Amino acid sequence: MCEQVRILGIVGSPRRQGNSTRLLEVALRAAGINGALVQTLGLDELRLQACDGCEACSEGLACVKNPDDASRLLASLHLADVLIVACPVYFFGVPSRLKSLIDRSQPYWWRGEQNRRRGLPRPVRKPAYAIVTAGRNRAGGFDGVLGCLKAFCFSLDFELQTPLLLPSADEPSTMKEGGNAMLRAAEMGRMAAGGS
Ligand SMILES: Cc1cc2nc3c(=O)[nH]c(=O)nc-3n(C[C@H](O)[C@H](O)[C@H](O)COP(=O)(O)O)c2cc1C
Repeated sequence: MCEQVRILGIVGSPRRQGNSTRLLEVALRAAGINGALVQTLGLDELRLQACDGCEACSEGLACVKNPDDASRLLASLHLADVLIVACPVYFFGVPSRLKSLIDRSQPYWWRGEQNRRRGLPRPVRKPAYAIVTAGRNRAGGFDGVLGCLKAFCFSLDFELQTPLLLPSADEPSTMKEGGNAMLRAAEMGRMAAGGS
């Protein structure tokens, strides 16, 4: 029997009805229709403290300083088969709550680094996808976000696939039902579910 692909979608925008969240919903719906087990994780209701840079996690996996929701959330991300992160560009980077979660993945970065130093084989990386929206349409406008997401995914043993980038998307009304962005998001969801 073929096991269902478990896909976790992370809502990285504080705007619940925003462009990136809507595209994530479209992607996850398509993934579900194509047989995946999908779950959406919002960051706005979580207790999520910023990393304080103590580097205690270099000695072991747990974050000793911050007993909040981050460790539990990161553990479930690490166990997923596929990740889809959706977020807007904020000042060329990711929104602050998402950045807090990303910084808190440092225990996973350390684990990978320790394994590398011990000469252990590299893990087989699982696929991760990104949906990123921006108000402007300027060269390099997505670079900061993509660099950050690539490193985050890598820490959690994922490999970022070709992202869906949507510039000139300040207003939710710029994204039409059945329009190109929605079609591309649905296509991403199908691919994430293991379809072609
Ligand atoms: C605090 C803040 C910072 C932003 N910074 C940028 C930016 O650096 N570049 C850009 O193109 N758009 C920027 N924007 C616009 C958002 O990226 C854009 O409106 C995006 O589509 C919002 O996505 P959402 O609807 O998923 O929340 C910014 C918006 C906010 C609120």
